[in-house]
Amino acid sequence: MSQDDHQLRVSKIRDGTVIDHVTAGHALTVLAILGIDGSGEETVSVAMNVPSGETGHKDIVKVEGRELSQDEVDVLSLIAPAATINIVREYEVVEKSRVDRPTAVVGVLSCPNANCISAAREPIESRFSVLADGVRCAYCETILREDLADHIDVG
Ligand code: CTP
Ligand code: ZN
Repeated sequence: MSQDDHQLRVSKIRDGTVIDHVTAGHALTVLAILGIDGSGEETVSVAMNVPSGETGHKDIVKVEGRELSQDEVDVLSLIAPAATINIVREYEVVEKSRVDRPTAVVGVLSCPNANCISAAREPIESRFSVLADGVRCAYCETILREDLADHIDVG
């Protein structure tokens, strides 16, 4: 147990999803992946650089009244591989899962190469294979490493 015993940083939620153990510094990217920009109605709490473990730090994102889609979890895993997804109902964690790094993400990211066949307005879904340090377009081999969130095409 951490210093949560003495002080609660952000309050517990009643129903929704807690994305915990997010790589420190990536909470805002998580919000971008979830399409949260403050214009919606959802109640969202964010904690950044919270002490975690012996020497580490983490970010936490709590989204009330919402569960995540598999597409969202797949993209989250790319930027926060140690994250846990906690589904909360009536204040209890009813489901806890680690994110799984997929081998490919289909229809989630859009290829930044304007000449890519998947970027044209054709019924071709984007497809990126997941590398150790980024993703690669299956059609034109463009590699994305940083700023994945800028290329998300969900919902
Ligand atoms: N949480 C929350 N609201 C609740 C229940 C839990 O915001 N009603 C948050 C906790 O603050 C924590 C996360 O959800 O950040 C996971 O909760 P829990 O499984 O109780 O904590 P730990 O056992 O410490 O989780 P882990 O082992 O995954 O670190
Ligand atoms: Zn491409």
